[in-house]
Amino acid sequence: MMNVIFTVSALVSAAMAAVVPTPSFTLQAVAPGQQFDGMTLSLNGPLAGLNHTGDAVRFYASNGQSAFAWSLHGFPAGLVDTPAVLVGDSAFNLAFLTAPEQTAKQYGSKLMMDQWTFTVGRPSIKIAPTPGKYLGYNFEQKWYAFPGQTEGTWTVMWWDGSCCITQDGIPMKLKLVESDSRASS
Ligand SMILES: *[C@@H]1O[C@H](CO)[C@@H](O)[C@H](O)[C@H]1NC(C)=O
Repeated sequence: MMNVIFTVSALVSAAMAAVVPTPSFTLQAVAPGQQFDGMTLSLNGPLAGLNHTGDAVRFYASNGQSAFAWSLHGFPAGLVDTPAVLVGDSAFNLAFLTAPEQTAKQYGSKLMMDQWTFTVGRPSIKIAPTPGKYLGYNFEQKWYAFPGQTEGTWTVMWWDGSCCITQDGIPMKLKLVESDSRASS
């Protein structure tokens, strides 16, 4: 009986912790001179892009095994976590996927998700996510915008620069903008 009570209270505190995830962030495209410069990333289904009609990409960060390894989670936090992942083969979609180990396969064979970093310029020991920092993965910012299927839209991808991309990707950065936690989501 005690075990049951402990389990329930653990669930309740986990749920409460998940309901108050502060701060949360959106991502602003930084690509001076480009049409999409300054746009907030938005969702096309689970995939992040630019000038899509879906909700703004919004997330909170949690600290992983080390101070240099963060996870990102879709905001608001529901009962089911939607972590941010990079999924693909040589070009990786930035996606928010529930149960990514099961659901990511349709987007590519490789999945990365627990090494997000936040830097201003060079890597620094001040690694916490704060407004104005740039989102990277394992300290690398290999972000590109590729033309989307609809004219005037872009898909935001992390590209390792290797083979198999025929379209021209436009290099960009992703800047953290703190969202107003009181704003309705
Ligand atoms: C955004 O997309 C629409 C079409 O969906 C297009 O008409 C518009 O020009 C695009 N905006 C920019 C800044 O590219």
